[in-house]
Amino acid sequence: MYKCAIILAAGEGKRMKSNTPKVLHKVCGKEMINHVIDNIRKSGVDEVSVVIGKGADKVRKGTESRNIFYSVQEEQLGTGHAVMCAEEFLKGKKGSVAIFVGDGPLITEETVTKLTKYHEEQKCSATILTSIMSDPLKYGRIIRNSQGEVEKIVEFKDCNEEEVKVNEINSGMYCFDIDTLLNTLGKLNNNNNQGEYYLTDVIEILKNEGKKVGAIAVDVEEITAVNSKAELSVANDIMRSRINRNHMDNGVIIMDPRSTYIECDVIIGQDTVVYPGNIIEGTTVVGENCVLYSNNRITNSIIGDDVTVENSVVLNSKIGNNTTVGPFAYIRPETTIGDNARIGDFVEIKKSSIGDGTKVSHLTYIGDAEVGEKCNFGCGTVVVNYDGKAKYKTTIGNNVFIGCNTNLVSPVEVEDNTYIAAGSTITEKIPEGSLAIARARQINKENWVYDKNKNK
Ligand code: UD1
Ligand code: CA
Repeated sequence: MYKCAIILAAGEGKRMKSNTPKVLHKVCGKEMINHVIDNIRKSGVDEVSVVIGKGADKVRKGTESRNIFYSVQEEQLGTGHAVMCAEEFLKGKKGSVAIFVGDGPLITEETVTKLTKYHEEQKCSATILTSIMSDPLKYGRIIRNSQGEVEKIVEFKDCNEEEVKVNEINSGMYCFDIDTLLNTLGKLNNNNNQGEYYLTDVIEILKNEGKKVGAIAVDVEEITAVNSKAELSVANDIMRSRINRNHMDNGVIIMDPRSTYIECDVIIGQDTVVYPGNIIEGTTVVGENCVLYSNNRITNSIIGDDVTVENSVVLNSKIGNNTTVGPFAYIRPETTIGDNARIGDFVEIKKSSIGDGTKVSHLTYIGDAEVGEKCNFGCGTVVVNYDGKAKYKTTIGNNVFIGCNTNLVSPVEVEDNTYIAAGSTITEKIPEGSLAIARARQINKENWVYDKNKNK
């Protein structure tokens, strides 16, 4: 049967106290609404409409890569009204539509599948995803009759004393028969404590018309909604432990999952060890058998196999196999480091390529440079890439030995198999096979100290 979905995302989210529309707040690196869209898609639902209103332009922009249909709700008159605004999307479609909320990012592909499957197998007019909560908070309550059938949903603000005690709650996620839904929306009114057209009232209307209403209960973690920053942190916690669990199932060793922050699109190879305090973000891919000692931030980077990184920041860069980085290295965007290389402490590398087997062991800055293989950078080397106005590029060949405290004033070229004497300031090309010395010659003034003190 035909399947499509609507995601409600027009509300302002006042309780978030934010300039960003609620559904664009991120959970483990991805906007809440995109979590919902992606998981719906994974379950095989193809056509998705998002109902937008408050912050519509931002929500469109935040979801533009997902190829969806938008329905606009100019005025936020309630969840029932929001679905009415998606009428054009539903028109002409037959079968069932699943409805989700943009602030419920924890819904999984499996649950979406379970919901639509149950709805169709049981031939329901409506199926509600519910959950049992020991503290049902402000969720709508599922009211059942003496036969245990769902009778209606009562919003928290409209509950009487008995109803408020019910601990089966409405997740705000449903499946409906499209024709039945379209025929019922027109019958909604806003005679309630919030003066809104509630989608939840559709249930009572269907029940009174003798239609079949189903409900399936799922774990509360699946349906946790985010209405405030505190609830956002709860959603992040749940998602984070799912992600960590998934990596561990795939063979990654995570020493302390509670202090490990891995965003949702990160890939990590088998037997890699992740120590506490790692933040691994964006599209990062880490290879196998790596050791990520504590406190790294690695963003949108590709790390090879057998790499060690410690107490370092790696941004939008690529690191080859069997290379070590850190402690305390800063690898800035557009850097490529080869295999078997060593980047040591207090080394900053920006927009440069470093060849295989090259060692930059300590206290060095390399910016806008191309460095060959098997070079050795002495302590305190600086590539002087900026003259206060523009940036220039420096090229260093293979097997170059750079003495300590060298400045390479860009643009400059250092050819293969060369040596640079410690303390040199290099401003001219060094031809292949040479030793460059670029510093003042030492003069010793004998007895200078004694002579100076003679007259005192
Ligand atoms: C809603 C349900 C409640 C359920 C809860 C689950 C109704 C009346 N109540 O309550 O039973 O327990 O979700 O999280 O449906 N939205 C619009 N347009 C509107 C109003 C809301 O698009 O006019 C969107 C919001 O952006 C949000 C979603 O619908 O993504 C839910 O709205 P919200 O105001 O958070 O509903 P709740 O009060 O939480
Ligand atoms: Ca909500």
